[in-house]
Amino acid sequence: MRNFDYQTPTRLIFGREVVTKLPEVMRPLGHRILLTYGGGSIKRMGLYDRVKELLKDFEVFELGGIEPNPRYSTSVVEGVRICKEQHIDVILSVGGGSVLDCSKAIAGGAKYEGETWDLIIGKVPTRDALPIVDIMTLAATGSEYDAGGVISRTETNDKVAYIDRHLFPVCSFLDPVYTFTVNAKHTAAGVADAINHVLEQYFTVSSNSVADGFCETLIRTLMKYAPIALAKPDDYEARAEIMYACTFGCNGLLELGTAGSPWPMHGIEHALSGYYDITHGEGLAIITPHWMRHVLSERTQERFVSLGTHVFGLSPDGDPMEIAGQTITRMAQFFQSLGMPMTLREVGIDSSRLAEMAHHIAVNEGLDAPGSFAPLTEADILSILKAAL
Ligand code: NZQ
Ligand code: ZN
Repeated sequence: MRNFDYQTPTRLIFGREVVTKLPEVMRPLGHRILLTYGGGSIKRMGLYDRVKELLKDFEVFELGGIEPNPRYSTSVVEGVRICKEQHIDVILSVGGGSVLDCSKAIAGGAKYEGETWDLIIGKVPTRDALPIVDIMTLAATGSEYDAGGVISRTETNDKVAYIDRHLFPVCSFLDPVYTFTVNAKHTAAGVADAINHVLEQYFTVSSNSVADGFCETLIRTLMKYAPIALAKPDDYEARAEIMYACTFGCNGLLELGTAGSPWPMHGIEHALSGYYDITHGEGLAIITPHWMRHVLSERTQERFVSLGTHVFGLSPDGDPMEIAGQTITRMAQFFQSLGMPMTLREVGIDSSRLAEMAHHIAVNEGLDAPGSFAPLTEADILSILKAAL
């Protein structure tokens, strides 16, 4: 068991109608609120009007139109400008992970005099940030319970994870009812993303049974309830189980006492989204089986056998390499059963920029970290991308 130091300061308020507590949560944080949201889903589901009504005693400014794969040059820069000009006290993010991630970057930038991008890439440390509250409408990223946000800069094909302890939300409202309207594509992508968060932490050189148990339970839960939510989008229990599981995917809980990981599948996916603006969870569903096949060896097979026996119910008796292979097949079949794309071509990516992306990933993502589960060179990354074509 490795040493650890863990703190998640975020308050979670979970369940039907919990949004009624919004004014009470916002009051101590300030009077001037920046309400952030995406392309309009919150207006279509009536949540925008509900929030405005709940906040009628506050002064509310707005930043709408935040893109999936939120963009620095448009949304982040604009949000920082509003915060500074209007002396915003607190940001309220209402939407999916993209809106919240963008809000986190805005929160950091609002308290910094220089270029926000320098905070995002870690060139300068983040010393302060505006407080953030969120109402999640999509279960996937775990951003509601973590200190990170992923920001895209399309001009340079960069998609960068901005992580700092100041970016933990103060409070996250999690009402599964708000996820009823998430369509099949984004429901499946959200589940694939959350499963992948778990896998990134499960595949490590040194684990422990508590961490393994957390991971295996979360994957089993997501696999059980995803088909139910797809068949019946307003099934409260299914949406609730998925939302609960997603929330714990990214905040470090699953890797306490383990050797950790450089998150290789995410490192690869960030380039796919950075270059082609694809849906994050779909990119992961495509890459995951190919990463698994690429790194499977006699040295790494034990983790695959463990996943196969504890999650897919495979028998532990038999050739470990055979069981590991079946585990990978079952994982891919599960994503396929959700109707997800399984090749890069299906999401509009051809072979023309694979080498360029492999180089970008190798330079920027640190996937060759010595001592990690399966360090990846540029050639390894290219080989995974080619296999996924
Ligand atoms: O923009 P609107 O109109 O709101 O529509 C969104 C968007 O089109 C829609 N949507 C959200 N809630 C809805 C809904 N549609 C109907 N009903 C609802 N209730 O869904 C679409 C996708 O939304 P988005 O926020 O982009 O999805 P997600 O939550 O999966 O976030 C993806 C982003 O998070 C990053 C990804 O890289 C990607 O940029 N990640 C953030 C992480 C973190 N902060 O810890 C970790 C992850 O690994 C991930 O990288
Ligand atoms: Zn992810």
